[in-house]
Amino acid sequence: GIELGKLLASTGYITYDPGFVNTGSTASAITFIDGDAGILRYRGYPIEQLAERSNFIEVSYLLIYGELPTATQLEDFTTKIRRHTLLHEDLKRFFDGFPRDAHPMPVLSSAVSALSTFYQDSLNPFDEPNVELSTVRLLAKVPTLAAYAYKKSVGQPFLYPDNSLGLVENFLRMTFGLPAEPYEIDPEVARALDLLFILHADHEQNCSTSTVRLVGSSEANLFASISAGIMALFGPLHGGANSAVLDMLEGIKAEGGDVARFVTRVKNKEKGVRLMGFGHRVYKNYDPRAKIIKRTADQILAKLGVSDQLLDIAKELEETALSDDYFVQRKLYPNVDFYTGLIYRALGFPTKFFTVLFALGRLPGWIAHWREMIQDPATKIGRPRQIYTGEKPREYVGLGER
Ligand code: ACO
Repeated sequence: GIELGKLLASTGYITYDPGFVNTGSTASAITFIDGDAGILRYRGYPIEQLAERSNFIEVSYLLIYGELPTATQLEDFTTKIRRHTLLHEDLKRFFDGFPRDAHPMPVLSSAVSALSTFYQDSLNPFDEPNVELSTVRLLAKVPTLAAYAYKKSVGQPFLYPDNSLGLVENFLRMTFGLPAEPYEIDPEVARALDLLFILHADHEQNCSTSTVRLVGSSEANLFASISAGIMALFGPLHGGANSAVLDMLEGIKAEGGDVARFVTRVKNKEKGVRLMGFGHRVYKNYDPRAKIIKRTADQILAKLGVSDQLLDIAKELEETALSDDYFVQRKLYPNVDFYTGLIYRALGFPTKFFTVLFALGRLPGWIAHWREMIQDPATKIGRPRQIYTGEKPREYVGLGER
């Protein structure tokens, strides 16, 4: 494939493939997807087995290093991450510069970008010990940065990490805890969030991961590349879909809960009206992650005693769409984000924060891809071509003659 690509490039032919629907940008050994069969595997392990039996730290290790860790490797990895959860005190002040109602995604991306200034030893992407250190720093500090972005938005004081806790528990405490009050962690809530992180941890060459690789292909360091990936995830057609689903469900509820009317608007292709949380570039069958999440949504809402009218609307919407020819013909099924927002909401997160939770989950996948890209001898700087559609050559016209 690579040789054929080189040959075609030398003849001057260009492949025109908007949205890279059929362009393989890289070889990768990390994640396998069969979109027609609804299969997802990380390093060969089915997502269903990882969701049931593994945890987020172990899955992060698997994605980044290629194998499940031994007990000693897992303990060593976990200890290293625990040691790096604190932020430099000056980095905390960084948050003061943002307006209080700022969206947490650009705040998080800026803070991750700023890590390059605090850790200037990270600038050489080929310095393997430092890449290792940057990996651990990211996995440890991004949850702290995310919790601080939340604290900033609600005007509460930042909490230092408590390293006697696990990664997810620590994140929950830094987000929802208060300095003067003990914060009790509900293990079922922590497990639900851990599960959601596992399900989001990688998804091969999606928009944000491709962004991380493209930025990294210029030999920009890990922090810079991941900061860019976070911004790619921000958009409503990608990670922003989880917030957009909630906004959509709220909108339907506010207009009297008429699901059929909303579906008609979608089918009429009214501008800006899509069935958010439905459809996927690769899955033309039920997204295997959505199946797991739907079950979790039912369980966690029942456990927390939340009766959410939005869950009823979501279920009705799914049933209506799945039995409607418009969606069947286009192979549109619920994707990972159709039900996640309802769980995040039940856990107490505001809608604006949902995409940050996606970023926390996707982080090990981005890191794994950046590292695979940097180590791959076939990597070249990403530089697509174009089909020029502009003016033919013409003479410059002076200002007075235009
Ligand atoms: N609602 C209504 N119609 C849809 C939807 C949808 N959610 N998704 C696709 N379609 C229709 C399109 O209008 C198009 O119809 P047409 O052939 O009559 O023009 C057809 O299905 C094909 O759609 P494309 O836009 O070509 O599909 P593409 O692969 O480019 O888009 C995407 C995939 C962006 C995910 C799209 O399905 C979408 O916008 N979904 C809603 C947003 C969303 O949930 N994003 C999250 C994706 S998963 C993730 O990032 C975690």
